[in-house]
Amino acid sequence: MQEIKPSVDDRVKLCAETVAGPSALVVFGASGDLTHRKLLVSMFKLFTQELLSDRFYLLGCGRKKFSDEDFRSKTEKSLRDSSDFLSSKHLDAFVSKLYYIDGDYNDADLYEHIASRVAELNRKHNVGGNLVFYLAVPPFLYTTIVEHLDSSGLARTSSPGTEGQVRLVVEKPFGRDLQSAVDLNNSIGRCFKESQIYRIDHYLGKETVQNILMLRFANAIFEPVWNRNYIDSVQITIAETDGVQHRAGYYDTSGALRDMFQNHMLQMVTLVAMEPPISFEADRVRDEKVRLLRSIRPFDIDKFDDFWVRGQYGPGSINGKQVKGYLEEVGVKPDSKTETFVAAKLFIDNWRWQGVPFYLRTGKRLPVKDTEIAITFKKLPYSLFSSAGFDELPPNVLVLKIQPEEGIALSFQAKRPGSKMCMSTLNMNFSYKSVFYVDMPEAYERLLLDCMVGDQTLFTRQDDIEISWRLLTPLLQAWDRDSSAPHKYAAGSGSFPEADKLIDTDGRRWRKLAAKSMYDHYQ
Ligand code: BG6
Repeated sequence: MQEIKPSVDDRVKLCAETVAGPSALVVFGASGDLTHRKLLVSMFKLFTQELLSDRFYLLGCGRKKFSDEDFRSKTEKSLRDSSDFLSSKHLDAFVSKLYYIDGDYNDADLYEHIASRVAELNRKHNVGGNLVFYLAVPPFLYTTIVEHLDSSGLARTSSPGTEGQVRLVVEKPFGRDLQSAVDLNNSIGRCFKESQIYRIDHYLGKETVQNILMLRFANAIFEPVWNRNYIDSVQITIAETDGVQHRAGYYDTSGALRDMFQNHMLQMVTLVAMEPPISFEADRVRDEKVRLLRSIRPFDIDKFDDFWVRGQYGPGSINGKQVKGYLEEVGVKPDSKTETFVAAKLFIDNWRWQGVPFYLRTGKRLPVKDTEIAITFKKLPYSLFSSAGFDELPPNVLVLKIQPEEGIALSFQAKRPGSKMCMSTLNMNFSYKSVFYVDMPEAYERLLLDCMVGDQTLFTRQDDIEISWRLLTPLLQAWDRDSSAPHKYAAGSGSFPEADKLIDTDGRRWRKLAAKSMYDHYQ
């Protein structure tokens, strides 16, 4: 099912690209934003790179009434509008493989219709019955669709006309607390086996997030110092300049803890902190991630404020442009207490990390888009250079830059040229773009391809989801009970006193937010 084709890039000669075998993708929510902004754009990029099989088609399902032709021209427009669109060379060939069915997701007839269309298209494109169902719909529809897929026979791997592998991709948010996540896992689990279920967290598809494991476990120099003996603290930041945009309906019932923290943030914590898996097989990697999540110290219900701070953006300015505050955004309740910023301090109770604080923050309407993981090493035990005026030497910091510019930077002290004993903090920088000369693939490209080849390594498992919700649910409940509003921060300001206090009390500081080049950063 999985072929390997040599890469064309000389600089990555050792790398072989994975190519999907024959497969069909059935997307629920095919007229929606996610499908047109991300999924179709990523599928088209895979197609142009010849990473999809010729024996492939995509069947979109949605509530809007479209013909195949309407869907194709809407898709063509989305592709042309996308910043990733390079050439129309493969466009006709790609859109000719797209089809569309409209209907009501609650109506059993829709699934009968899908089943007969799938049987016909499977024969036409000779896909051999391998099917991926993608739920790009609001979460309240997940259970309905999954149950219909089951009762119509589409979920089974060997029903007539669909012999082959059937897989289900579920978008986030997966639940909104522990109970709803368990319920959702149970209802999906009644219809699909765990080996068929792909819970997406798009952060795991980002190249630099995947590189965390390579960096740690494919180099001899990092692992020996990757522990409490050498590391002072870890900071993870996901800063966004965007506000809620057109998603207030969803976001106002979600907030930053559910939207970013339970998934993207905790996934990055697991990759930085987990033990080496015994092999790179999907379940061995996921076992270690789960073990790490279990080791995160539960929060003392009476002391949440010492570990968690929430904020909400007010009006302000970003890149010189005035922007509205959260409460003025269209679709947000005027008295909403939804948090758009969360900062946290957590500890991991195991031998490797005992006593090492992990400072985490994520927020919307911050001054720059900046996602990074910074590992700060311990200070020197004493300075040999105090006679030259260097009593306190800055610690080494290893920064894994996730976006917008992907790379790795290590800061260290070095002598300045000259007769005097002068010292500077320098940075060793590695930027992906300048080494590999490629644009980083969109996270969805990698994840869609992995679903089609049946690799679950970058997808969250049932226990992973439930443990992360178990950790955060008491906090969500406490915030629900609390009548006070989140702290306010002006859009574009970057922080506020309560968030600063969380880290200042430990004698440390948040790292400066910086989106710019690797070369003028990390001083
Ligand atoms: C999504 C959240 O999962 O991630 C959004 O729902 C957020 O609110 C987005 O903006 C951020 O993703 P990225 O890839 O731009 O960092």
